[in-house]
Amino acid sequence: MVYYPAHFDRRPPGNYVYKAVRNDDARRRRFLLRIAFVVVAFGALFLASCSSDLPQSSLNPRSTEAESIDRLWDFILILGTAVFVVVGGALAYAVIRFRKRPGNEAEPKQIHGNTRLEIGWTIIPVVLVVIIAVPTLTTLFDLRSPAEGDFVRVDVIGHQWWWEFQYPDILDENGRPLTTANEMHIPAGMTSELTMTSADVIHSFWVPSLAGKRDVVPGRDTVIKITPDADIAGQMVPGQCAEYCGLAHADMRFRVFVDSEADFETWAAGQLEAAPVPTTGAAAAGYDTYTQFCTTCHQAKVATADGTVEIIGAALGPDLTHFGGRTSIAAGLEENTAEHLAAWIDDPSSIKPMSPELNDIEAGRIMGMPDYGLDEQQIQELVALLETWK
Ligand code: CUA
Repeated sequence: MVYYPAHFDRRPPGNYVYKAVRNDDARRRRFLLRIAFVVVAFGALFLASCSSDLPQSSLNPRSTEAESIDRLWDFILILGTAVFVVVGGALAYAVIRFRKRPGNEAEPKQIHGNTRLEIGWTIIPVVLVVIIAVPTLTTLFDLRSPAEGDFVRVDVIGHQWWWEFQYPDILDENGRPLTTANEMHIPAGMTSELTMTSADVIHSFWVPSLAGKRDVVPGRDTVIKITPDADIAGQMVPGQCAEYCGLAHADMRFRVFVDSEADFETWAAGQLEAAPVPTTGAAAAGYDTYTQFCTTCHQAKVATADGTVEIIGAALGPDLTHFGGRTSIAAGLEENTAEHLAAWIDDPSSIKPMSPELNDIEAGRIMGMPDYGLDEQQIQELVALLETWK
């Protein structure tokens, strides 16, 4: 027996046994359900896009580069919408105008080929593709061209699961570049050129409202330019790793602080200073704990009371010299408060999924911050120390 789907209206020729269960009510209900689903799904998406509380949006561009990408997007969206309206309109017209009407059982006129139409629907898309290709390529080449004039160079290094930022032209008295983590400062109204690589796996650097996405690949340099709008000086723009890189990929965030030029200079000068080694109180006790545990992975430039400046610790995790001056901890995951920091030191993996048991210090491979089992007092002393390192 041959079954035909319910919508197969016309009895096929020949001696087939034709059987179709037609249940108009059920069909209509299914159709309405589908329509309702589409309306709700698209409605939710549409409403979500109206929220102004989405700082990571490329539709809210705040740099020369992001604005050029956004312009291209707008242009293609408008063109695509026009094509959709024309094609969808023609389709709807044909479906309604030439639909099968009751009582009309005649076969439509059978035709084959229409040279004019075929040439038309070959040439028009080609022209449209060319119209899209020209601004697309211009934008791409613009974005990839080297920065010109005065610009700030930043070296970005992706790590599982945090970001290191070095400024190769901003050096301290010993030629050590400004080094910080998870919070990058760049001046407004001026180009910063980021040269990026990875210490382990592939990451992707993405600050949606400042620049396009670019992969951060071990053994390779990729470059991205950011010229923040002059009028956003003083704003923080959040970013995010955009390439799946293991356990804490979603928590591999960072913050870009767009400073006025003067603020940027002040910040940079401050970052080159050494952190004071405390001599009294909880912070001094914290420093003992610090040199016992934290230096295994974290580097800091410290100045003792007699003025000796030295670099302590291994540079495997974020540089902590100016930890207290950062607004966030755990790669942009939480605000930098004493409570958050204490909870983090107490049990880091409960806050951010990591695999510190896989750490191989010898090989320089770090997969997360370990829980050293410090007691409450040691933790509080460490917090006291780190929060003074502004
Ligand atoms: Cu790094 Cu995802």
